[in-house]
Order: sequence, then structure tokens, then C-alpha cells
Amino acid sequence: MVIKKSDDIRSREITDKKVYLSRRNFLRGAALAATTVATGLVYRQLLAPQVELANPTGRVAPGAQPAPKQWGLPGEEATSYQDITHYNNFYEFGTDKYSPARRAQSLITRPWTVSVEGLVNKPKVFDLDELTRLFPQEDRVYRFRCVEAWSMVIPWLGFPLGELLKLAEPQGSAKYVAFETANDPKKKIPALSEYEAGLDWPYVEGLRLDEAMHPLTLLATGIYGEPLLPQNGAPIRLVVPWKYGFKNIKSVVRITLAERMPPTSWNRANSEEYGFFSNVNPEVPHPRWSQATERRIGEYTRRTTLPFNGYAEQVAHLYDGMDLKYYF
Ligand code: MTE
Repeated sequence: MVIKKSDDIRSREITDKKVYLSRRNFLRGAALAATTVATGLVYRQLLAPQVELANPTGRVAPGAQPAPKQWGLPGEEATSYQDITHYNNFYEFGTDKYSPARRAQSLITRPWTVSVEGLVNKPKVFDLDELTRLFPQEDRVYRFRCVEAWSMVIPWLGFPLGELLKLAEPQGSAKYVAFETANDPKKKIPALSEYEAGLDWPYVEGLRLDEAMHPLTLLATGIYGEPLLPQNGAPIRLVVPWKYGFKNIKSVVRITLAERMPPTSWNRANSEEYGFFSNVNPEVPHPRWSQATERRIGEYTRRTTLPFNGYAEQVAHLYDGMDLKYYF
């Protein structure tokens, strides 16, 4: 894990993203020429629109080479911006990986409010700009592991959810935190019937209060220093790096503190396959596939999946005394 506060990042650490992206594209081209590739990869290489990022430094002296920013993790390169923004799960906009990048562009992300309510002393509806003013935005590079056994390394921008919850002052009876995605036709989130996703809307998720307060748990507002794109859950989404990707609810509008464990979308759809906790656990297979290894997007061999997605040292104690095969 890499955690950096935005004011710790020196300009010499910032990569020119065009350089970075063109290197990735070259490497992909070379690998493509040498390998037989799956249909999804062909799509990403040949058909998916290429994304140009603005130079985040803005000013580089003529002729000067900006030094690389540490977007990756030790020994693990960050996934390309292209892949992070074009290989998505956002079922409100379709059930395949490629539609959200196109269809979610209709999502209206301003103005946007997030309500913090339930068992708190200071409930409040926050405007998005107020949230980003109140809480300094940090770059954090995390592993991201989908329950479908693919993974990425994502440089998020965001702030700890715990800071927002502290401001709201949770009451003693609060044990859980429930999250809700926008479900407002005015925001152009399409209706269930349009894409037959098999989920009830709005998409909902939940954490135990101690998980929500953990310093690794983020509300993300950006990726690679750029504001979140709609397909990634703009303008604000949850990131819990030691849990399967579906816990990372997108486009959040409501956060409710509660005494009882809240319902969660995938658990409601199929409780045999998707538990409330959903901690990354290579020892507990999904009923239909193994979770022992994963396909890192942009790589050509599988990686071993790490307990708690590599964050065991920071979070395993939260589950002391629990049988994680039962509480999956
Ligand atoms: N949030 C909402 N509202 N709707 C969704 O369909 N999909 C989840 C999660 N959050 C989803 C969601 C799943 S299954 C995954 S793997 C991640 O978002 C994918 O995030 P990404 O597209 O940014 O990689």
C-alpha cells in the first residue's frame, strides 16, 4: 500500500501521463503481436476509445523531462487509466464490462449531495464541493480485486470515510454503516428493466462501523489525480481495498448509520454466493470458481491472490475470533 497526502507529493514525482500511456500502448502492441488473445483483450486494444489525460503538472519547463510519479506499488505497476476507465462493472448502465464507459456519460454528477443520517448526533446533507473542501484529498494506490477473479492496481484520490463519520458523531448504538447509490431519474440513472441486471435498485452496500472507520477505507473522488469519470462512480464512491470490488459502491448519495446489519445488493440477489463481509480470501472459493488466483488486467499470467488482498497486516485483527469461512 502507498499512502500519500496531497501536500507530500513533490512535483518531481509526477509522471507525464501521455508518456506513461504511450509506453503501455507500445507494450500492449508488442504482446499482442506475440500472443493469441482473448476477445475482451482484442476489444480493449483495438476498439475501445483511447483516453488522453491532461498533463497533471500543467507547467514543465521547455525541454525538461518530468520525473516519474510513484503511481504503482512496489513490484506492481499501476493499471492503465485506459483499462481502469473502460473495463467496468456498473450494472445500472448494463451488465457487460464495456457499456458503462459509454452509457454512464449520461449520469448528471453536478450538483450532487451526500446525506449522512441515521444514528448520528449531527446528521447533515453535504454538497460535494463542501466535502472536498472539508477533507484534504489524498492519493492512495490500492490493489482492487473483483469477486470475478480479475484485479487492478488503482491510484485513487479521496479522503478517509472515517473523517466524515467522526464529524457526524456516531451514537453508541450505531454498529453498521449503509450506503446507497443514486436512483434518481433526474440524474439519468436508467431503470432496472432497461438492462435486466437482476438487482434491485438502488444499489446498496454496507460495512460494520469499525470497517468504515478504518483508515484504509476511502471515499474516492478521483483516479490518477483526475476527477472520477461517470463509469467509475462519479462523483464519489466507496473504496475498501481488502474486500471484493462489489463492496465499493459507486455514485453514493446516502450514508446511514444503523444498529442492524443493512441489506446489500449482491447478498440480496444471491446470499449463497455473496456474503456481507466479502473480504478477499483465497481460501474460500466462490461456489462457481476458485479465488486462489487472479488475472491482473494488463498482464498475461495469473497472480496468487493474497489474504485480505494484501492488507492483512492492517485489517486482519478486525476479524479476530471469527470463522471467515462462515462469515464470508
Ligand atoms: N456500484 C453500483 N452502484 N453499481 C454497480 O453495478 N458494481 C460493483 C462496484 N460498485 C457496482 C457498484 C462491482 S461488481 C465492482 S467489481 C466495482 O464497482 C467495479 O468498479 P470499477 O468499474 O470502477 O472497476
